[in-house]
Amino acid sequence: MTLVASHPDVAGINRKLGSLSAPGRIAWAIAEYGAGLTFACSFGAEDMVVLDLLERQRPGVSLFVLDTGRLHEETYALIEEARRHYGRSFETYAPQTVALERLLWERGPNSFHQSVEARKACCAVRKVEPLSRALAGRSAWMTGLRRAQAVTRAELPFAEVDDAHGGIVKLNPLADWSEGDVWAYLRAHGVPRNALHDRGFPSIGCEPCTRAVAPGEDLRSGRWWWEAPEQKECGLHARGEG
Ligand code: ADX
Ligand code: SF4
Repeated sequence: MTLVASHPDVAGINRKLGSLSAPGRIAWAIAEYGAGLTFACSFGAEDMVVLDLLERQRPGVSLFVLDTGRLHEETYALIEEARRHYGRSFETYAPQTVALERLLWERGPNSFHQSVEARKACCAVRKVEPLSRALAGRSAWMTGLRRAQAVTRAELPFAEVDDAHGGIVKLNPLADWSEGDVWAYLRAHGVPRNALHDRGFPSIGCEPCTRAVAPGEDLRSGRWWWEAPEQKECGLHARGEG
């Protein structure tokens, strides 16, 4: 257990991380935050890169998955494969039973299609609340976010203060990577990956809220495809929006 850092100098951290490659950024984070660091792993392509880089440098480092209960079977298969590949288990956070029961009772099992508000209510129970528990007591967390993924991510820094989680530091070591960089790494290092990527799913979330995209389509156009691009954040990455 590590104390939450007070007044992190993110401008200085960004300068430092901007001068390093992704493996260097990850090495810096491990040295700087030690047991206070954790990684949010969705087991998407970017996160498999970060997982692999972390495991090469600090096997067994803290990382967690938010198991919403609505992930694809292919994602669960990849989690099993990654457990074997890296010889470790992964911290797992699931929705709180009472809140989930209330959501299902009041709104129905597939309420997310009704409105942006209903979709965010589901994400709040299945993702955002569990994320708060996953980050409790941490001083920094890492993601696989990239700038090129979405209009909502174009300004993504390498490091930011996460006010939604007590002012801890949030690190995005792949912020400047392209999709090509991600796939070059995965192939070069024989990293396990989600079978859905080969079936037109560049970005993978929950099964009912993700569909395949056509070649050349926006990477996240298959996520919450019925919503406008600027609304497509689930609350895990609140940067002035919920
Ligand atoms: S999101 O809209 O679902 O948050 P995306 O799938 O692009 O977007 O994920 C962005 C980052 O959020 C991932 O790299 C990962 O760090 C974190 N993340 C997303 N979903 C999960 C999950 N189910 N468990 C853990 N981390 C997650
Ligand atoms: Fe619910 Fe869809 Fe959000 Fe998953 S992505 S938590 S199923 S609304």
